[in-house]
Parts: sequence; C-alpha cells; structure tokens
Amino acid sequence: MAISGKAVLAGVMGWPVAHSLSPALHGHWLAAHGIDGAYLPLPVAPDDVAAVLAAMPKMGFRGCNVTVPHKEAALAACTRVDDVARRIGAVNTIVFDEDGMAQGSNTDAFGFMANLTAGASRWNPRAAPAVVLGAGGAARAVVAALADAGVPEIRLVNRTRDRAEQVAASLGTADVGARIAVGDWDRRADLLADAGLLVNTTTLGMAGKGALEISLDRLPAQALVNDIVYVPLETPLLAAARLRGNPAVDGLGMLLHQARPGFQAWFGVLPEVTAGLRAAVLDRISPARP
Ligand code: ATR
Repeated sequence: MAISGKAVLAGVMGWPVAHSLSPALHGHWLAAHGIDGAYLPLPVAPDDVAAVLAAMPKMGFRGCNVTVPHKEAALAACTRVDDVARRIGAVNTIVFDEDGMAQGSNTDAFGFMANLTAGASRWNPRAAPAVVLGAGGAARAVVAALADAGVPEIRLVNRTRDRAEQVAASLGTADVGARIAVGDWDRRADLLADAGLLVNTTTLGMAGKGALEISLDRLPAQALVNDIVYVPLETPLLAAARLRGNPAVDGLGMLLHQARPGFQAWFGVLPEVTAGLRAAVLDRISPARP
C-alpha cells in the first residue's frame, strides 16, 4: 500500500535483522487494516543502540521492536521499563512518549501465554506442574509467564545447570521462588511424570541444529506439549507428542501474538492472529519457497 507524508513509523532493530519476520508480520496487519504506516527493518550495530533510540523519536518513529542481540541493551537504554520486562531482564517492545522518552516492555511472556490459550483452550495452568527445557532468553519469558499464570511448580531443566539456577534466582522473587525447581538435564524424562505441560525453549529440534532427545513415556496423556522452535513448524517433539495422543501447540503463534501489543500501541488497532497471517508468515519461512 502506498504511504502518505503522514505515515506512522515503527520498525524492528536487530543485528543482523535481515532474517526477522516482523516486517512481514506487521506489514500484513498494516495492509489488512488499511493503515497509513510503515514498519521497517532497522539494522543497528551494538554500539549504536542508545544513540539510535535517542534519535528515533526525533525523526517521527512511534516506537520499535527490539530483537537479538539488543534486548538487554534496550532495557538499559529505556527511560521506563515495565515490571515484566524488568523481571525477564529484556525489552522487546518500545513506545516513545510525547517527550521522546523510551518506554520499554516485554511482550514475549504475553505471546507465549496467548498462543497456549488460543491453541489449547482446555489447558489449566493451575492444575499441574510444567517442565521447561532450556535457560536462554526465551526460557526467561516462558518461566515468567507460567509463574504469573499460577502454575504450581515449574521444573526448569537445562544442559548447563548453572544457567537454570541463574534464571530461577533472578525470576524467583517472593512467592514465585518456591515454585521454580531446577532439575538435572539427564533426568529430564523422569521429570515429566505428573506434568501438565512440557515446553521446549532450547534450540534443539530447529532446522540445522541437533535433535532434542527426550522420551515422552512418562508424560501424562492429557499433558500439553509446546515447542518454541517454529522452523520446522512441526518439530519432531510435537510430532512425537501428537503420535501418542497429547495435545500440542506449535511455536509460530508465540511470535505472532507477541507482536500484537506493539502494533496496537503504535498504530492504534489491536490486530488478530488469523489463518491468513499465519499463511503469510509461513510463506516467508518455508524451505520450499523459491
Ligand atoms: P535464547 O536466548 O534464544 O533462548 P540461547 O541463549 O542460545 O537462546 O539458549 C539456547 C538454549 O538451548 C540453552 O538453554 C542451551 O543450553 P545451554 O545453556 O546448556 O547452552 C540449549 N541448547 C543448545 N544446544 C544444546 C544441546 N546440544 N543440548 C542441550 N541444550 C542445548
């Protein structure tokens, strides 16, 4: 769609940023809603994050998303940061206020939970323990979301146990601390007994990475399985879960849902995650695409 001189501006800053699906995602919504706006890829080198954030409101940007490797630097550069972003230790969405001050938030926890709610309406977070594999940035958002949703016990398991301990320590404030239990990577299959949810936040199972080896034998039949990995969309973990009758939700929805609050803040419309949006984004990541 052609834009006018009054077009509203937003974008995503990363380094590199060429692989980001966010321009296609927001571009789809802009077209669907007929909005006079643009959402641009912004390649920003690590040393320039603070300077770019200071300059963007002066050239008319309403805000931006922040992706790898800038999420922690963005947290430090924002004037105000909301509670979820502070607990996760990373900012992925920025809105400039009328004085040009950067207001940072993190919508990954929202995106994770919205994806599960949309894909598995019968899952009750309060009913049973959750097992989370991995302790990187994605795991921090997942654990924060599960803790906020009232999951009674979060079993956090990572190859490097130290990193899981660090996530538990930084997110485990007050009542939440008692609900995060760090487990051994070698015992990951045993920890599935009596779980209501299994989430993979590691890069295992992603195209070009190693396989995620885990026996699902002990996982209760009604437990929900979710993979943060969405390339491929149907990971071996999700396929194995479905084969034994477990409900399963793929990882693409987390990416799509996390984008909604930012779009609303910049462009004034809360967009929906539709089949058309999924198809448009999938088209960008399909290996079959010429
Ligand atoms: P992100 O911040 O995007 O979540 P990351 O910080 O690189 O990404 O985290 C990747 C996760 O995948 C980590 O939990 C990592 O485990 P380590 O902390 O032990 O590195 C996990 N991971 C990657 N390769 C792995 C492998 N071969 N076996 C087990 N876990 C692996």
